[in-house]
Amino acid sequence: MKLISVVSTRPDYIKETLRHHYLKEMGIEEILVNTGQHYDHNMSQIFFDELKIPIPDYSLNVSTGLVGRQTGEIITQMEEILLKEHPDLTLVYGDVTSSLAAALASVKLRIPVVHIEGGIRTDSRFNPEDINRKICDHLSDTIFVPTELSLQNLLKENFPSDRIFFYGDVTKDILLYTLNRHDIKIERKDYILITLHREENVDNSQRLTNIIRALNESGEKIVFPVHPRTRKQLERFGLQDKIGDNIQLLEPQGYINFIRLLAGARKVLTDSGTVRREAYIMYKPVITLIEIIWWPEIVKCGWNLIVGADKNKIVDAIRQFSPPAEHPEFFGDGNAERKILNKILSLYG
Ligand code: UD1
Ligand code: UDP
Repeated sequence: MKLISVVSTRPDYIKETLRHHYLKEMGIEEILVNTGQHYDHNMSQIFFDELKIPIPDYSLNVSTGLVGRQTGEIITQMEEILLKEHPDLTLVYGDVTSSLAAALASVKLRIPVVHIEGGIRTDSRFNPEDINRKICDHLSDTIFVPTELSLQNLLKENFPSDRIFFYGDVTKDILLYTLNRHDIKIERKDYILITLHREENVDNSQRLTNIIRALNESGEKIVFPVHPRTRKQLERFGLQDKIGDNIQLLEPQGYINFIRLLAGARKVLTDSGTVRREAYIMYKPVITLIEIIWWPEIVKCGWNLIVGADKNKIVDAIRQFSPPAEHPEFFGDGNAERKILNKILSLYG
């Protein structure tokens, strides 16, 4: 059996860490395609180096910028690769533009698409990730969902139950593996960790200004590894010079260092989809800086407070947010990846 696995951005690269080992063990041939949606060293190569991910068989080096051109370039290049490689299936992840483009190229050539991390839904009509994920689900032959709720979402939309599977979240697998492998202890140090990169926040000068003001006003020690998109916008909106002395700006971190930072944080502020659940799994109070709720489970159980970009709410949350003792399990048992690949082998092998 032969599959094409399409990776494109920081969270995808990280997820390749365990997958390529398991595929090898199972005798499944993997053709790794990196579209290159992320390209700075600290957003791409650093993960290949430190997580020992194989050199991609194809690097598409797509240009950044307008989404239509980027999508078109990926479709065009993927078509050539698919016609040359004739895989049994194409594997895509999550909600990035590259996954949508690769899924479209594949299904048009009648090559089945398997979507990992499908089924998550919000009521947002214009969020780019939501659009990508919904279309990927509809193009896919098989969908693996990370939570019970995402399974229910797909059933409500009448997806056939024999094409959707809930084995847990692969993010948890790699997180538990990394904590164990690098002997990282979950502690409660004196700093707050923030990540920020959603277009709704960083491309909007008012929202970005509110968030920076809130961080300054909190007076707390804040550690902030800055996504390149955010770095550019801080400069563009003249906010670089308004960062308070309590905030330590860092380059985007490699995964192992980032997990160390997360493991030591007192609280976590983020608009990331993945950091929210990594923080939850590590028992960190999570304060979300965007109104889009991808994981209602962790909001309902009281561990994730949604504050958006409201300055006063952010300051109050930094000072006062305190989750309850109860911490239910939503993201599986840490063996999602193996279960998913076994299922793929039984369906397409
Ligand atoms: C993308 C994904 C998002 C995911 C995130 C992970 C889409 C629509 N967005 O968002 O779902 O959460 O990756 O981090 O697929 N840039 C650089 N260097 C890089 C990468 C990006 O400078 O290595 C800058 C460029 O100015 C680029 C901008 O960031 O135009 C946006 O990059 P893009 O990949 O479109 O979106 P992200 O915000 O990174
Ligand atoms: N991450 C990292 N270095 C950083 C910030 C995040 O390695 O400086 C990791 C983080 O642990 C998570 C992934 O990158 O696994 C999330 O990426 P991001 O927040 O950019 O994307 P999203 O999950 O929102 O799609």
